[in-house]
Amino acid sequence: MHFLIMAQQEEVFKKLVSHCKEYGYVFPSSEIYDGLGAVYDYGQMGVELKNNIKKYWWDSMVLLNENVVGIDSAIFMHPTIWKASGHVDAFNDPLIDNKESKKRYRADVLIEDYLAKQDEKIDKEVQKAARRFGETFDEEMYRQTNPRVLEYQQKRDEVHARFAKALNDENLDELRQIIVDCEIACPISGTRNWTEVRQFNLMFSTEMGSTSDGAMKIYLRPETAQGIFVNFLNVQKTGRMKIPFGIAQIGKAFRNEIVARQFIFRMREFEQMEMQFFVAPGEELKWFEHWKAIRMRWHQTLGFGAHKYRFHDHDKLAHYANAATDIEFEMPFGFKEVEGIHSRTDFDLSQHEKFSGKKLQYFDPELNKSYVPFVVETSIGLDRMFLSVLAASYREETLEGGETRVLLNLPPALAPVKLAILPLVKKDGLPEKARAIMDELKFSFSCQYDEKDSIGKRYRRQDAIGTPFCATIDHQTLEDNTVTIRYRDTMEQERVSIDALQQTIAEKTDMKNLLKQISI
Ligand code: GAP
Repeated sequence: MHFLIMAQQEEVFKKLVSHCKEYGYVFPSSEIYDGLGAVYDYGQMGVELKNNIKKYWWDSMVLLNENVVGIDSAIFMHPTIWKASGHVDAFNDPLIDNKESKKRYRADVLIEDYLAKQDEKIDKEVQKAARRFGETFDEEMYRQTNPRVLEYQQKRDEVHARFAKALNDENLDELRQIIVDCEIACPISGTRNWTEVRQFNLMFSTEMGSTSDGAMKIYLRPETAQGIFVNFLNVQKTGRMKIPFGIAQIGKAFRNEIVARQFIFRMREFEQMEMQFFVAPGEELKWFEHWKAIRMRWHQTLGFGAHKYRFHDHDKLAHYANAATDIEFEMPFGFKEVEGIHSRTDFDLSQHEKFSGKKLQYFDPELNKSYVPFVVETSIGLDRMFLSVLAASYREETLEGGETRVLLNLPPALAPVKLAILPLVKKDGLPEKARAIMDELKFSFSCQYDEKDSIGKRYRRQDAIGTPFCATIDHQTLEDNTVTIRYRDTMEQERVSIDALQQTIAEKTDMKNLLKQISI
């Protein structure tokens, strides 16, 4: 049963990827040259959805919070920044090669996959028992007492504890030993002939300018956060910001990911939406909880169902954090991290003080003293968010009469096109009337005019790109100035006056509808 669901989900995921290409959401980069690994381009629909997600995030941060302001810092930064942040020395992935297939893997991912398989094995036992015992089944009791489940669980927990310790100690030999002890085989060659585990730095580098000593090696930023830290005092002073306050930024980040897979989930060039919230020392865990709750609400407000999200607290805290959690979303390939929330202490600002020799302190008028603020960060991958929205919206429906339709039931505020304007036929003055309506409405929201093919086919095209409303212009329109609104999700139709159209659609697609739910 479980494997059947997984296979079905994989099938749905494949369909989603081809849907993205067919309808102008996402294209493989450099496609006519056979593509470039883990790099993607956003098409005419994708860019609109992406912009709408950005706006939803940006407004939720900067519009709704008086004490959060935005910046847009450069991708190129002084290379010492990455020394100070720890990325030059510690932004590594532990890699292992299979000697037979010559394939390279992340050692931690191999072990995580193994642990997930153990969890599945346990769940399968429980499901089998649940079917056997029927209504009288007590799952908790079964998990606590069944010898086989206990044995699996104990083994899994032992491996997990070893794994967490090896990660924390950065013990590469132990990571390899866990792979050997768990008899993890290469999925390609099926053998267990592994190399040593080695560290591999994820930053891309390039050269800037040319001096007598040669060009300067600079890095493509692997996160946008450092651009915020190095501008902390600029913003605080010029904006007369008082702690607590936040700085938000949306921008590109680059990582030379080795295991690049699952479409736009793990990319080499991607976009982040990050907010660093500066607080007084000792206040950070309170604000960590605050932003955890706010960020979860931001996700859940989209209406895909609370069960699709969960928090996952980190086993291994990054070198800069004293608390960290992920918001995971149920992708077609399981629950995966979409956003990280980290209490980064005063690590970054203190490091930049040390490496730059400049003070990065705040004078707190209430405490009458200066200090290096502590930081709580919320960091979400825009591309992963995009993927989660599409995965949650993609539907295949069988209609009465056996006909099928594919639709994206995107939240109207995020949909690339809000209203399709469709003359019923291409004659009798209907196209002219439809164009006149479009010319009026295009100032308020994004409209698409379409007169080609049957009305049924045009509805399907709009369903497939996720347009929440279609307005059909027919002969009656010429007589009484009314149009039919067709609703994407229910396919119901309603006659409304053209005068009411602008206001009706504007209200239903307004980002305010989402933002108001967050600011409650
Ligand atoms: N400043 C903190 C930071 O960068 P992170 O957990 O490494 O933390 C934050 O990254 C978010 O960026 C992740 O939750 C994920 O959504 C996104 N992200 C990270 N690497 C990515 C990749 N290779 N492709 C797409 N998104 C990525």
